[in-house]
Amino acid sequence: MLADKRVLLIIGGGIAAYKCLELIRRLKERGAHVTPVLTRAAQQFVTPLSVSALAGEKAYTDLFDLTDEAEMGHIQLSRVADLVVVAPATADLMAKMAGGHANDLATTLLMATDTPVLMAPAMNVRMWEHPATQRNLSTLLADGLRLVGPNSGDMACGEHGAGRMAEPMEILAAIESALSDGPLKGRRVLVTSGPTHEPIDPVRYIANRSSGAQGTAIASALAALGAEVVFVTGPADVAPPQGVEVVSVVSAQEMLAAVEGALPVDAAVFAAAVADWRVKGESSSKIKKDKGQLPVLEFVENPDILAHVSQLPKGRPKLVVGFAAETDDVLANATAKRIRKGCDWIVANDVSPETGIMGGSENAVQLITAEGSESWPRMSKSDVARQLAAQIAAALG
Ligand code: CTP
Repeated sequence: MLADKRVLLIIGGGIAAYKCLELIRRLKERGAHVTPVLTRAAQQFVTPLSVSALAGEKAYTDLFDLTDEAEMGHIQLSRVADLVVVAPATADLMAKMAGGHANDLATTLLMATDTPVLMAPAMNVRMWEHPATQRNLSTLLADGLRLVGPNSGDMACGEHGAGRMAEPMEILAAIESALSDGPLKGRRVLVTSGPTHEPIDPVRYIANRSSGAQGTAIASALAALGAEVVFVTGPADVAPPQGVEVVSVVSAQEMLAAVEGALPVDAAVFAAAVADWRVKGESSSKIKKDKGQLPVLEFVENPDILAHVSQLPKGRPKLVVGFAAETDDVLANATAKRIRKGCDWIVANDVSPETGIMGGSENAVQLITAEGSESWPRMSKSDVARQLAAQIAAALG
């Protein structure tokens, strides 16, 4: 898929720059051409020599390199690639991109390019969470840039949280998806997945048995067809798919906010098992066991994210797909649910314990549309995902 594709790799100045060496190797293994560009700060972390030795091409560093201007001007350099990848995309580089700065070779190329851009942010957790970075991120996403990562975990600076650059293989998967010529190329699709956790107090919560397997498989299948996928997931058992933008949330309210932040999209698939209720007045300290006294939990209804998006007066995705997990009268209940929620399709499944579907690797679904319903034979969750992704591609045309 990557054979003879040209990647312009812009390496920013962060410790995660070392991962680019591995990324270049993996891209070369797959037959891609990599043209590396290093910012001045990047050269503090990796050398132009090591980068160019691995890429087998000259590493560019300077805007005013007259030889290069004679050989290949910066405008041309920005246009010859099939994809521009910014890794690591530091807070500073993101700010410059969002602000339209062009004061060195990397930022000038990013301003001059007419090629899709994929960024892999990497920074300290506080810098990532800073309102300025989040503002810049929203601007860049609205400008059409694609995102991979960042991940959560231990950081080189000793802190823990979101801001670790995606691993080379994850960036590679995102590059493959961005360069895919599949039928969903250029389409942005949202997928919700996993359960939500609704807190009772700081240590207890209400959850459900969703593993996130079906939603994850759907996100992978959509990405494999070339879609740009935003994957909003609750605390799932299975690892999130590679090559997609992952937004991790815990509660239904957080999931709604993440979904609203991901719009506009061409299609949205709501595979999450969202808790219908949350505990009213979550306790900020651990509820103690009082002799003879049983705690009484009061509930309030959670927002229905699927219904909310289906009924948006402005900016509704062209195709909205919901799921219906039923134990009785699957077809009748799911058909009524499609109308009640206002979505286009419902993927209905029987989650009675004897089916082994909830938490299992197989699924038997019925697809309900305005035209009627079709029953799919029992198959693996990845096959269900592939079939659904193919039908979504056909419906978006
Ligand atoms: N859903 C959602 N937000 C909620 C509840 C559900 O987005 N607060 C979505 C799910 O992701 C799924 C669909 O709605 O796509 C159906 O969810 P389900 O739990 O089966 O239906 P409910 O609305 O809860 O109806 P009921 O409990 O009556 O079956």
